[in-house]
Amino acid sequence: MQVRRCALVLVEPREAIDFDLTELASGETGVRERLGWVALAAHRDEDIPLTAAEVAALGALSPGHWRSLDELSQRHPRAVLEALMAKGLLIAQEPVDETSLQFARADDAVRAVHWRGLPAVMHRHTRWRDVDSEAVERLFAEASSETLLERLGPAQPVVPERVEAARRMPLPRPATSALDALMERRVTCRNYESAPLSFDAFSAVLYRAFGARAVCDYAPGVQLLKKGVPSAGGLHAVEAYLLVRNVEGVPAGLYHYHAVAHALEPLRPLDADAAASLARRFVAAQAYYAGAPLQIALVARFERNFWKYRNHAKAYRAVILDAGHLSQAMYLAATELNLGAFITAAINEVEIEQAFGLEPMAEGPLAVCGFGVRAKERTTVEFDPAHKVWV
Ligand SMILES: Cc1cc2nc3c(=O)[nH]c(=O)nc-3n(C[C@H](O)[C@H](O)[C@H](O)COP(=O)(O)O)c2cc1C
Repeated sequence: MQVRRCALVLVEPREAIDFDLTELASGETGVRERLGWVALAAHRDEDIPLTAAEVAALGALSPGHWRSLDELSQRHPRAVLEALMAKGLLIAQEPVDETSLQFARADDAVRAVHWRGLPAVMHRHTRWRDVDSEAVERLFAEASSETLLERLGPAQPVVPERVEAARRMPLPRPATSALDALMERRVTCRNYESAPLSFDAFSAVLYRAFGARAVCDYAPGVQLLKKGVPSAGGLHAVEAYLLVRNVEGVPAGLYHYHAVAHALEPLRPLDADAAASLARRFVAAQAYYAGAPLQIALVARFERNFWKYRNHAKAYRAVILDAGHLSQAMYLAATELNLGAFITAAINEVEIEQAFGLEPMAEGPLAVCGFGVRAKERTTVEFDPAHKVWV
């Protein structure tokens, strides 16, 4: 059997803390610290505990060359190699069962996208599955008598002042412009009307935030886009995947937005209950965002950005920055039409990937945003200290 190490794996010396209740009862602290090795692989969702012998073998196995297992067994204990295979860190060229086939496919998917190791592991292992952020908050409130502020203590100051006030060089404030007025009314909306969003407003905001204004044939086989927002390399590698619940003339369901055609690609229709349940799961049960008429998953096409920025130290950062620009454009386009908008990073990436059929290391959700008509009454808190939206 021919085997090789998986493409990208980091090994962390981790301290786990356990509580021994019997020790606690006998007046001791009950705290038990356990030190051990944990593998974080770019093709596996789980943290994988390793023995010291497995760490040593892992460091001596090539990720590039296939080697015979029998030949490797002369240098490493066979049981250690088999344990690494069972953990999916040593990959078989010809998988013998369903599990090893899945390990091999997931590893191939990582290899195909030219990830750099550190961001690949970070991306894979910061995804949420089935997280209910409201339940987590309730648990925190029950488990602790302190408020969050008591627990955290004072925050860092709003501005880190680097010189005394007398040494500052004052700058004139500009005369108020239309852009100022628009930016002042941009307030993250957590209160949405239950009536549907109009088709025209829906279409206009999508175009201004995500639509392409020109397509450039940059080189044979390479097209770039011009949009209202900047993008690393002009690649515009962040896509808008929509969960529509309540938009006039658009049946509830999952869609992909085609940025060049300015059109929706229907992926799966949903009944109202299924759409509501998915909306809640996407945003980790944040009810105020689940109530918006639509959600937009900002999905990074790593395979498009990393085609150019291969194995590049800055590429992952750049894609995340692209998503931020799109979100701000969406906020402003919505605000101009007197709509409310939101973005959240507290999302269940795994549920979003599954709903849209995305291979996580090729196309990954980074955030969920959306917009809609503001409710007439504010029941959930919004940050509007200057009362530009709420009187
Ligand atoms: C990257 C990012 C992540 C955010 N995540 C959340 C979130 O998980 N939940 C939420 O209610 N708001 C979230 N927000 C919205 C912020 O809470 C909001 O921008 C902030 O309170 C300031 O309010 P403003 O946008 O009205 O100025 C997020 C905003 C950004 C930019």
